Amino acid sequence: MQIAIDGPAGAGKSTIAKMIAADYGIIYLDTGAMYRCIAHRVLLQGDDFSDTEKIIKLAQEAEIRFEGEKVFCNGEDVTESIRTPLVSLHTSDVACIKEVRELLVAQQKKIAGDQSVIMDGRDIGSVVLPEAEYKFFLDADVTERAIRRKKELDAKGIEKELASIKQEIQQRDDNDRNRVEGPLVQVEDAIVVDTTGKSIDEVCAAIKKYIDEVRA
Ligand code: CDP
Ligand code: CDP
Repeated sequence: MQIAIDGPAGAGKSTIAKMIAADYGIIYLDTGAMYRCIAHRVLLQGDDFSDTEKIIKLAQEAEIRFEGEKVFCNGEDVTESIRTPLVSLHTSDVACIKEVRELLVAQQKKIAGDQSVIMDGRDIGSVVLPEAEYKFFLDADVTERAIRRKKELDAKGIEKELASIKQEIQQRDDNDRNRVEGPLVQVEDAIVVDTTGKSIDEVCAAIKKYIDEVRA
């Protein structure tokens, strides 16, 4: 069983994917976390996002591992540190590099090779799992997505204006949609789910209903 979930930032992809994974007893792979790990490494090594060669080398040396909810990069627990607004901002800088994508996509395909999996990201239905039986494209109004992110930041004690969160999300979506390699696309065979105004449970139920109907 292969399930692909794509969509812009804050659409609810990872929340829903984790729930579906638990319900069907399959592996969840957060591909965004992998790109975040590379951006985090670049920030640790001096913050130079213009040195493509160095970024590729850092990506080649990165050993990314998932353990339950935790993410490790080269042995270090980076679960929290890859979620900061600074890492979010810079992740699309590393995600547009062809060699970085090839490296991570190969790892993602390998994980999906011998087990049932649900993955979320931007290029899952198009590049990573083009043959997936189930493809979903989650979307939501950008203001609602920014409000969701603000609530998350507030809960962590990080103060940030809604307007600037919204602007960053729009910038990131534009970067993700307009890059040449593995852009965010809504593939033709994806089911589009607009999550605006919908609770997590409603979205999850709609996706499960579709999967169960196809399986039956
Ligand atoms: O959770 P959120 O949607 O904010 O971000 P994420 O899924 O963790 O992804 C962070 C960034 O990684 C995205 O903005 C993309 O630039 C990049 N990414 C990608 O290029 N391809 C993927 N399959 C997943 C993420
Ligand atoms: O992975 P992605 O960036 O697409 O979004 P997420 O991290 O799963 O969700 C962003 C935030 O929106 C989380 O705090 C979710 O709890 C929340 N959310 C929501 O309030 N309503 C939904 N229908 C989906 C997500």
